[in-house]
Amino acid sequence: MLGKVAVVGAGNVGATAAQRLAEKNLARTVVMIDVVEGVPQGKGLDQWQSGPIEGFDTRVIGNQSYDDAADAEVFVVTAGIARKPGMSRDDLVKTNAGIVRSVAEQIARVAPKAIVVVVSNPLDVMCYVAMKATGFPRERVIGMAGVLDTARYRMFLAEALDVSVEDIQAMVLGGHGDTMVPLVSYTTVSGIPVTQLIDQRKLDAIVDRARNGGAEIVGFLKTGSAYYAPSAAAVQMVEAIALDKRRILPCSAWLQGEFGLKDVFCGVPCKLGRGGLERIVEIALTDAERAALHQSAEAVRATQAVVDG
Ligand code: NAI
Ligand code: 2OP
Repeated sequence: MLGKVAVVGAGNVGATAAQRLAEKNLARTVVMIDVVEGVPQGKGLDQWQSGPIEGFDTRVIGNQSYDDAADAEVFVVTAGIARKPGMSRDDLVKTNAGIVRSVAEQIARVAPKAIVVVVSNPLDVMCYVAMKATGFPRERVIGMAGVLDTARYRMFLAEALDVSVEDIQAMVLGGHGDTMVPLVSYTTVSGIPVTQLIDQRKLDAIVDRARNGGAEIVGFLKTGSAYYAPSAAAVQMVEAIALDKRRILPCSAWLQGEFGLKDVFCGVPCKLGRGGLERIVEIALTDAERAALHQSAEAVRATQAVVDG
């Protein structure tokens, strides 16, 4: 169990993540931080009061200041705004970059040894902003997207095959967006290659639905985006770190030559343990998968240029 985990942004993803962290007993204290006065305090107290019912002793507290988060071992960054009418994609990138930059500076000030799990969008570029603003090494700035994208892909496959989600092994790599790369060559059902169990047309439709998984939910919710699965995905990463599980999960990492890519954040297989990103696992890819990964990373690099410009 960790001493303290802080969640920045007490909105839909952040608050749900805080509750999940407490229910899993991953830290003695969970601290929520948000700019909106009263919201993290109120949500924190409410969550803490679920402890006697859910059976956890984790203290959940909230504040505007970062003082309560001093020396937290892990930060989950979910602060940001959604795109508003009239706002271009680049405007949104710049606005959220400003938010994530200010959050990251505060993290470096109060918890210079922390591991940062970034959730804010556009994900891969916000990881870049957080790494630059904290000055932390790549081992301690990791992005959540691949766990979520893979969960969506696994769920759709389990539904189509009428089998347990537990038996679907898969990995979605690349940037978090339309160019993400579901690895069909590594998708198995209890070790059976998925291509033996489903025809190509159905598989293509599932890959496509996974790529648009976020947009499908926005289409229903209209005023917000997904948060139950995203918070579960972020907490799975925190759990791997807190319990030093050394899990291999698809996460956004700062690449330094792996997969032939350099100086860009992109989703790749990562070993997560108490040190954060302990290793990037360079797996063999088909020519088509490698080309798709490069195309996805170049899309991230183009947005990265917006925050550098
Ligand atoms: P939300 O709007 O419910 O919550 C965002 C919270 O951030 C708000 O409570 C807001 O007050 C707070 N905030 C804004 N500026 C802040 C600052 N400077 N310091 C602290 N808090 C601040 O949004 P939601 O649904 O929780 O999503 C959060 C972010 O996560 C968004 O950028 C969203 O696009 C992203 N996201 C990423 C996913 C991924 O796979 N990486 C999946 C789902 C969401
Ligand atoms: C998602 O994939 C909005 O990035 C978010 O649901």
